[in-house]
Amino acid sequence: MELTVSTSAGKRYAPMPKAQHWLLGSFLPVRRDLLGFYTRMFYELGDIIRFRGLPGLYWHLVLHPAYVEHVLLRNQHNYRKGKVFDGPIGLITGNGLLTSDGEFWRRQRRLMQPAFHRQALFGFVATMVKETEKFFPDWDARAAQGQAFDIAQDMAALTLRIAGLTLFSTPVSDTADTFGRNLRLAFDFVGLKMRPTLPVPLWVPTPANLRFKAARRRLDTVVYQIIEARRKTPNPPLDLLAMLMAARDEETGSAMSDQQLRDEVITLLLAGHETTAITLTWAVYVLTQEPVVAEQVYDEVSGVLRGASPTADNLKQLPYTRMVIEETMRLYPPAWGLPREAIHDDEIGGYHIPGRTLVALNQFLTHRHPDFWEDPERFDPERFTPARVAARPMFAYFPFGGGQRVCIGSQFALMEATLVLALLVQRYRVRLVPGHPIEFDTVFTLRPKHGVRVIVERRTPQ
Ligand code: HEM
Repeated sequence: MELTVSTSAGKRYAPMPKAQHWLLGSFLPVRRDLLGFYTRMFYELGDIIRFRGLPGLYWHLVLHPAYVEHVLLRNQHNYRKGKVFDGPIGLITGNGLLTSDGEFWRRQRRLMQPAFHRQALFGFVATMVKETEKFFPDWDARAAQGQAFDIAQDMAALTLRIAGLTLFSTPVSDTADTFGRNLRLAFDFVGLKMRPTLPVPLWVPTPANLRFKAARRRLDTVVYQIIEARRKTPNPPLDLLAMLMAARDEETGSAMSDQQLRDEVITLLLAGHETTAITLTWAVYVLTQEPVVAEQVYDEVSGVLRGASPTADNLKQLPYTRMVIEETMRLYPPAWGLPREAIHDDEIGGYHIPGRTLVALNQFLTHRHPDFWEDPERFDPERFTPARVAARPMFAYFPFGGGQRVCIGSQFALMEATLVLALLVQRYRVRLVPGHPIEFDTVFTLRPKHGVRVIVERRTPQ
């Protein structure tokens, strides 16, 4: 494919793939393998690429860190999440923090921010540790028998339990194993809806629509039950739900309605549990491939903890473990792309961006950009030493997004992932089941398509 830079009326447009279907543009390769197609186009056409779907429908893939910074930070007020994001995700999260906009979003963010400050989060360390340790008997038994299992499933169950307990003091995976399943079903449906396909409205009774609506109903029932029970509890536990229920609007003094609480609770569950589970799953996979790194994590963890459970104070003593998590999210960013919509005309990298067109950011590709990452495919936690972070453009790495819509749970996630990985490595050596295939599932988040089947071995058998 050749590079085509088009100009019209003095405007310069970004290069486009040359071989496009006369009617469907790039629709077919995008539908077949979005990440593969974007990767090829990045190497052929560079830092900003213009694509066409149906005639007259264009979007841009924007990969250079300076351009990402322009969209997420410097000119962020010209970019909203837009229909591609809000529409599908809003089907499940309603008007929660992830999808709301304008003054309403600003107010909700202000109300919720204090619950995510580091100090408030330290209160969750004990729960994170205890819930992880509950998996030990099971993992010990598997270790004793040399039995293989999918660590992705256990990580999903663990992070869902932690989310349930820290959010509303209820181990949701226990109340109904179906809660996790329904959440995943709804999640996958939303992911498919974000793809450029012919839209089928939710009222059409297709099997997929009906399954999604049933899952959403079941999730709602559980969440509303929890809210109702909480309203009747005289001394509620100090969890995130309590903080949300206690929050009052600065101007009107009003509290959140049940509907709003429901939207925020589902948002936090959806945004928080799967992303962290995937990070941990990829981190475990990486350690099975990088024995030297795995032993270095073990040396750090065993030196600091000396066999004990980690506390909040220990977190800052585990910089290498945290760097392993950060490097994992570089190569395997759970949120691997972010859509934005330009509100007014703009210019990025000297190219014209018309208002109301989609701008797609892509962590997966920017995180592997050869101009900013030496030997980008190599796993190297040392890339995240403070000196090397400071020497890089800020938006060469943005697993949590950036600007005013940056992830509210980033510290929560980093803390949880560091603690769980430390506990796991302290007790076990992990091997990948020989021949287990590793492929990407990019439906929504970046998951390992076939899970990650491992065999664990106790480090100090009792
Ligand atoms: C490794 C784990 C996580 C990753 C990779 C991740 C990633 C992201 C990204 C990329 C965004 C920005 C979306 C955008 O700008 O369009 C975001 C927003 C958000 N995340 Fe996370 N997240 C993680 C964990 C969490 C956790 C643990 C929570 C809550 C407990 C959470 C709650 C949220 C919320 C509520 C937003 C919307 C913030 C707003 O727009 O004001 N996330 N996350």
